[in-house]
Formats: sequence, structure tokens, C-alpha cells
Amino acid sequence: MRNSRRSQVDPFIVMDVMEAARAAEEAGRDIIHMEVGQPGTGAPEGARQALTRQMTGDAMGYTVALGLPELRKRIARLYGDWYDLDLDWNRVIVTPGSSGAFLLAFTALFDTGDRIGIGEPGYPSYRQILTALDLVPVGLPASPQNRLQPVPADFAAMDLRGLMVASPANPSGTMLNKPAMEALVSACRDNDIAFISDEIYHGIEYEAKAVSALEVTDDCYVINSFSKYFSMTGWRVGWMVVPEPHVRVIERLAQNMFICPSHASQIAALAAMDCGDELEANMAVYRENRRLMLDGLPKAGFHKIAPPDGAFYVYADVSDLTSDSRAFAAEILEKAGVAVTPGLDFDPLRGAGTLRFSYARATADIVEGLKRLEHFMAQRQR
Ligand SMILES: Cc1ncc(COP(=O)(O)O)c(C=O)c1O
Repeated sequence: MRNSRRSQVDPFIVMDVMEAARAAEEAGRDIIHMEVGQPGTGAPEGARQALTRQMTGDAMGYTVALGLPELRKRIARLYGDWYDLDLDWNRVIVTPGSSGAFLLAFTALFDTGDRIGIGEPGYPSYRQILTALDLVPVGLPASPQNRLQPVPADFAAMDLRGLMVASPANPSGTMLNKPAMEALVSACRDNDIAFISDEIYHGIEYEAKAVSALEVTDDCYVINSFSKYFSMTGWRVGWMVVPEPHVRVIERLAQNMFICPSHASQIAALAAMDCGDELEANMAVYRENRRLMLDGLPKAGFHKIAPPDGAFYVYADVSDLTSDSRAFAAEILEKAGVAVTPGLDFDPLRGAGTLRFSYARATADIVEGLKRLEHFMAQRQR
């Protein structure tokens, strides 16, 4: 049997790094994980307790395709708390992670061959999911002057049907401020380009609150998730906010593609939203880790870093140290015992000269990882 052309997507390189780190650990080495983009903490305690209670008396069958109404209402309330927005809960759709939301959004908005702009560096799966749906990802190389975020000039006259942005972004952690978001939204409106905003790292921000596209327009798709701020990666639950006329379109797709998001995860997610103290304690760890990274990475010799406004990553330009970030990451793993991600995952053009460091894990790991990186770089420069 042959495979389809559209199934020929690239592997996620960070997964290969994780595998190399695992193999090193199996061989008895102690590895510090700065490659993984997920919190070291689990789901909040209150979320786990709520699910335990529910499981004893409930068959946990299918829910409705758009998700439990209580959860959709609670998510709508979050928009009041975080952005002072009065969001109609009927526009909120619970999804199998933000990854499930991408499938729904891209299918609802685009036809075969449509061209979708994605900022580079950016989350690699946008490109691969678009390709698998027979859509055409158009990489928009973003400049450091624009905080590695796309600006309207980057996609003028590019004949796009959609633009996908992320703020805070993975891998850079940089954010779009309100004027930058407004400029993108208005350029999209003027050119009939669907605007999709990945807001998965909202809540994990340090100096200023992240701006939601919904503060600027209702004519957009906003995608979010319980994976990051709510520390629930493996639960596979996220959400999307869409314009009111699109709800029924998404509902029909969701019924057929997924039937519903995981019932158990929806119960846990609902309770997680009331675990503010635990979530803020996680934030205190990220804040301290970020402080250590911003101090320690330049000391180690990684000077050119993007301003990490949010998320838990530092993206470093290492083009003065290597022209092969994959080999450099392998060398760092081998010699320093620190797993980091080569930039090629995020930027096929310039990623050979960049690395992503994640600081999502425990502070003790960050301290040790930085110590090892400093030692490694000192040896290397001899
Ligand atoms: C920017 C971005 N969007 C989406 C995802 C996927 O997240 P989820 O677990 O919600 O599918 C990730 C995961 O790392 C991410 O970094």
C-alpha cells in the first residue's frame, strides 16, 4: 500500500532529542532536561480530586461535542477575569488539546491549496498539520527588530487565506503588544485573511499581561489549552473561541472527528480553573527559573537571546558558535549532560543557528543545568 503525499510531514526534532536524552539516562547518565516544553508539575490537586469524586458515581460517557456547558461557561468567565471581556459562552468550544483545535480550525476555515502564513520561528506542528490537510504553509521569517513576531509587511501581497500567530510564542516567548496585534488584525481584515491566535501560553507572562486577539476583534479564532498554565499536558484538553456564526460549523466537524473531548479531562479541567493558589505557585517557580536563565545563559556565553515576555523558553541565536544547531545540541547533550532543542524545529531557514532552552522544570534542575552549560562553554572556548 502506498501512503498519501500529504502524510509526508517532518518529524518533531525535539522528540528525537528527548529520545537521545532517554537513551543517555538508560546508559546511566544524569541528564538535565531543558528540551521539553511542558511543566514538571502535574494537574492541580483540586483537579485530580474532582475527577476521583466524579468517577465513583458517573459512567463518564460521551459529552456533547462542543464540551460540557459548565466548562464552557467557566472558560467564558476566565475572559472576564483575565481581559475584562464579556464573552458569550456559546462561542467557546472545548477541544482535544489545542492540537485538536488546530484541526478543527484549519478544516473549518480553509480549502485544499489555501495558503496560510505562519511566523518563523514558530511552533512546528502548524506547518505539519497544514501540510497533512493539503493546505500550504507559508513561512514568514520574522525579524529580531519585530520581536520575532510577524508584521503586516511580512505578508503583504502574499495571497494568504489565513494567518496564524502565537503570543507568547514558542520558541521565543515574545509577545505581540496591543498595537502590534491591532496592526495584524486590521491587515487581515483588509485582505480577507482569517486570523487565528494561538494563546496557549496566556497566564504564563512576566512583565505585562498578554493581549488576547479577542480584545481587538470578535472576527477571529482564538485557541487555548489546559496544557501549559493549568499544567495538564497529558489530559489533552483545550478550547477555542470562534465567531458566533462559526459555532455550528465547528460543531458538525467536532461531532464527526472526535465525538467529544475526553469527559474525564473536562471534569478535571473545570476544577483546575479554581486552583488559583497552586497555579500561581507554579508561576513563582517559572519566574525564578526565568531570572536564573536570564542571568546564567549570558554568563555561559549565550548572549543573543530574544526577550522572553512569556511562556517558559529562551531562544538563543548561536550562529556565532555553530552553523549546525543539531550537532551543537548533540554535543551539549554528550559533553554537558543537558538536553536542549535545536532551532531547526521552529525555523527551517535560520534554525541551524539557534537553540531553544526550556525552563519549565524544577528550579534545582535549572541551577544545575546552567552550571553545566557554563562549564561546557568554558571548556569549548579553550
Ligand atoms: C505554541 C503551541 N501551541 C500548541 C501546542 C500544543 O499544545 P496542546 O497540548 O494543547 O495540544 C504547543 C505545545 O507545546 C505549543 O507550544
